[in-house]
Amino acid sequence: MTNKYSFKVLAERAMERAVSYREGDDNLLSRPTASVQELKALFDVGLPEEGRDGLEVIGSLAMAAEKGLVGNTKPNFFGWVMGASHPVGVAAEWMVTAWGQNAAIFDTAPAAAVAEDIVAGWLLELLDLPRMSSIGFTTGATMASAICLAAARSELLRRIGFDLEHNGIFDAPEIKVFVGEEAHATIFSGLRFLGFGESNVAKISVDEQGCMIPASLDAALKGFSGPKIVVCQAGHINSGDFDSFTDIIRITRAHGAWCHVDGAFGLWARAVPALRHLCEGIEEADSWSVDGHKWLQIPYDSGFAIIKNCEAHRRTMDTSASYLNVAPSESRSPSQYCPELSRRARGFAAWAVIQALGRNGIEEMVLRHCRCARHLQEYLSGEAGVTVLNEVVLNQLAIAFGGDATLKKRNYLTAAVIDEIAKENTSFVAGAEWKGQKILRVSIISQFTDTDDIERLGGSIVRAWRKVHS
Ligand SMILES: Cc1ncc(COP(=O)(O)O)c(C=O)c1O
Repeated sequence: MTNKYSFKVLAERAMERAVSYREGDDNLLSRPTASVQELKALFDVGLPEEGRDGLEVIGSLAMAAEKGLVGNTKPNFFGWVMGASHPVGVAAEWMVTAWGQNAAIFDTAPAAAVAEDIVAGWLLELLDLPRMSSIGFTTGATMASAICLAAARSELLRRIGFDLEHNGIFDAPEIKVFVGEEAHATIFSGLRFLGFGESNVAKISVDEQGCMIPASLDAALKGFSGPKIVVCQAGHINSGDFDSFTDIIRITRAHGAWCHVDGAFGLWARAVPALRHLCEGIEEADSWSVDGHKWLQIPYDSGFAIIKNCEAHRRTMDTSASYLNVAPSESRSPSQYCPELSRRARGFAAWAVIQALGRNGIEEMVLRHCRCARHLQEYLSGEAGVTVLNEVVLNQLAIAFGGDATLKKRNYLTAAVIDEIAKENTSFVAGAEWKGQKILRVSIISQFTDTDDIERLGGSIVRAWRKVHS
């Protein structure tokens, strides 16, 4: 069937469903209501020979998907470090989808290219990073770090006379990468993607909060004379803590290494004067990755690869062909900073969310989340058998249950608490493993989360704990 409806009719139906999801009565239910088998049955309606009625398609897609959605847009969501898709960003994204722009080169999407240029300037100002840096608009921090590490690889080899772009990686001199042993998993996957194997990566020991120990880094760097990359971290996935950038970057410089910072969510502390001390010295690094879809609340997907050496960035990501005109000197071709040619025009939603929040709105939100984290820590502090394992410096809490019980028993109790909270379903939490034991990890990062939501979460944790160990 050819579509018989105007775009307006379809768009309004989709918007109705989306609004009822975001603002409906089930606002507090954040878990999928269907099993895998039920979801498969809902989606597996058969491959049609003829196209279906457009309105019916939108209706059945919504009906199937809504039963399997996870409520990270809601204030009672604490499961992973995920943002809540700011309403202004969502509205902007609707327009972006309708505009259908391909942010490949300037000529395919001039407005998208200029929006990226302007947003890049705002990001450097908000994060107070070197203003000459270039920024690639990515799917998230995973890709952002991979781009930064690719630029590091090219530049370090160029400095010792090896042309990576011409010769390729297979006969290249070895580059060693030095990474905190509790770096985020995506750093290791990005490195593998770039051709680094386990033997090219040295894992540096970390302290109680999972932060790299500078003296251990120094000792490890001394043992390798070739080109080196050091990857440090702003915002540990469990403790939320930060590496000591001033010390680490001083050591990195002394060894002629490239320093990359994975700041997926933590780099936003840099935009908040009261938290700026956590990022002291970070501006001296060579590259930084940060998400837009986490603390900045830009709808998925959004991340930024920020690189001080713009030439290395452009050289690494270059895509040239006779039909891909270069951008005018006053603007960019978006694909010059990312591996993809065709992609979504990510600058528009970033522009809209930064305008909607403003510098003060970002600061207020990040500080509120950090205040909420401390509030939860205090709420739980009187409850025997409940231990917050990390020093709460940001928005993350790693909680274990069972006090002095054996590891096996504590792991059992922690898993049981997480299950009980899921059954009660007033807050969404998830588990992880840290330092050899199970934890309940709370990430406070959803845009509208405030003290009320924390009290409800605290109540749910305490009720679950009392039930499982009584
Ligand atoms: C420290 C850190 N780095 C990298 C990532 C990966 O980010 P993304 O999922 O946006 O690719 C995360 C995700 O939680 C993270 O916390």
